[in-house]
Amino acid sequence: MEKTYSYILALTGASGAIYGLSLLRALIEHSFFVHLIISKPGFTVMKDELDMFADANAEGAKADSAVKEEIINKIKLHFSADRDFSYYAGMFELLDENFLESRIASGSAKDIKGMAVVPCSMGSLSRIACGISGNLIERAADVVLKERKKLIICPRETPLNDIHLKNMLSLYSSGAVILPLIPAFYNKPRTVADIVNFMTGRILDSFGVDNDIYARWGAYGAK
Ligand SMILES: Cc1cc2nc3c(=O)[nH]c(=O)nc-3n(C[C@H](O)[C@H](O)[C@H](O)COP(=O)(O)O)c2cc1C
Repeated sequence: MEKTYSYILALTGASGAIYGLSLLRALIEHSFFVHLIISKPGFTVMKDELDMFADANAEGAKADSAVKEEIINKIKLHFSADRDFSYYAGMFELLDENFLESRIASGSAKDIKGMAVVPCSMGSLSRIACGISGNLIERAADVVLKERKKLIICPRETPLNDIHLKNMLSLYSSGAVILPLIPAFYNKPRTVADIVNFMTGRILDSFGVDNDIYARWGAYGAK
């Protein structure tokens, strides 16, 4: 398939790694190629929350292909993924967070439609807000903003202090979308996948990707 457009997806070390994997699956199923970056703390959270990468520091020791395989297996376990393994494997690349020479570190990568940081830790949020650009996640986000493409930040922390709030306002003022991982319950979710799909659908909506993976609000009694 021709990979005309792609998205950058970063998973950082905040709780909610499953949201990131859900968005990865959804973007691929909508035929977008995904440039996936996982921070080192992001790997730690995936290990804790999703029982991935059983060996200590496995993500460092394992080949990219083995990490990709674990990711695809988790997607197939948690969501009704209907494509075969090789389809998923061919639709995303795993980029090291320190690989600043990557093509996506430059505004000249014209196939990039946007970027989402899901989940976004307060650490990454602050560094992106300050334009630190010290790793590929921060640099790619900086580039997406300067190129006036869509940057969606999905923070996960509670409660929030004034530093978090000021950083979010700063990013919003720079053009980012602040889309907190706060699921609704008006759609009566029955499973964790329902809750996660709600957030994934809202992120896709914000990217302008047509989707029906979550139940939308209809006014009481409305048909
Ligand atoms: C299991 C676990 C859960 C965490 N959850 C959060 C969280 O929800 N939000 C947050 O801002 N940081 C959280 N942290 C702390 C971040 O991982 C830490 O600040 C890290 O330095 C963030 O680095 P990164 O932004 O490069 O991924 C968590 C850490 C661990 C180990």
